[in-house]
Amino acid sequence: MTHARQHSIQVVAHRGASEEAPEHTLAAYRKAIEDGADALECDVRLTADGHLVCVHDRRVNRTSNGRGAVSALELAELAALDFGSWKNRDEEPDWEHRPEDREETSVLTLERLLELVADAGRRVELAIETKHPTRWAGQVEERLLVLLKRFGLEAPAAAADSPVRIMSFSARSLARVRAASPMLPTVYLMQFVSPRLRDGRLPAGVRIAGPSIRIVRNHPAYIERLKRAGHQVHVWTVNEPEDVDLCVELGIDAIITNRPRAVLRQLGR
Ligand code: G3P
Ligand code: CA
Repeated sequence: MTHARQHSIQVVAHRGASEEAPEHTLAAYRKAIEDGADALECDVRLTADGHLVCVHDRRVNRTSNGRGAVSALELAELAALDFGSWKNRDEEPDWEHRPEDREETSVLTLERLLELVADAGRRVELAIETKHPTRWAGQVEERLLVLLKRFGLEAPAAAADSPVRIMSFSARSLARVRAASPMLPTVYLMQFVSPRLRDGRLPAGVRIAGPSIRIVRNHPAYIERLKRAGHQVHVWTVNEPEDVDLCVELGIDAIITNRPRAVLRQLGR
């Protein structure tokens, strides 16, 4: 069960409170803030007309009533879609979809998410993941930094104070971010342990490791190595109570979960 170190773990809402509300919608992020999440995770992609939107998949087919690749659609086309009704397909949905609340389940721009966080009335951090960074050869990062700058978030005085961090499976994407904005913390996401990083090193300049929960379960010694090397460890996606306990035991720094309310409760918060 949980113990004394639990309060130092940050609870990050993965795609918002995405177990209860449709992922990456204003409704899901609003719920995560209400639930007390310390931070919000979101994936960002560029639309055909250059807007950053919060969508996980390459295509909109799974999470909306439309079809097609985000990168081939303009923001106005995405805004005509409904990103909420798919969540009602279960027989007993937790989520009550109200089509009249259009903005709550419309496509969410990163700009709107930044506004929501700015109006939260308390510190809420953001963990932003760059998707398809190779296809756009730097444009995702460039536009992301321009937007963060508008909100005064792109150049924190110290990495430890930054309410925003950038995550990616692409070391190249993170290097682009660091080159333009050296104080923004970056997180290297890992689905498996690369043989060349087995000793606990991360790509140059990255201070935070982002392993999957499967890595944590199967390779706890590797997690120890990362920590001994001085890295923070942020784990995704931690939904099972026994995995929360394991993260506490191993001294993990952040738990990224679809169920922020349940995890906070388990941690006694
Ligand atoms: O938080 C990292 C995690 O979100 C990475 O995987 O596929 O959910 O974006 P994915
Ligand atoms: Ca993600």
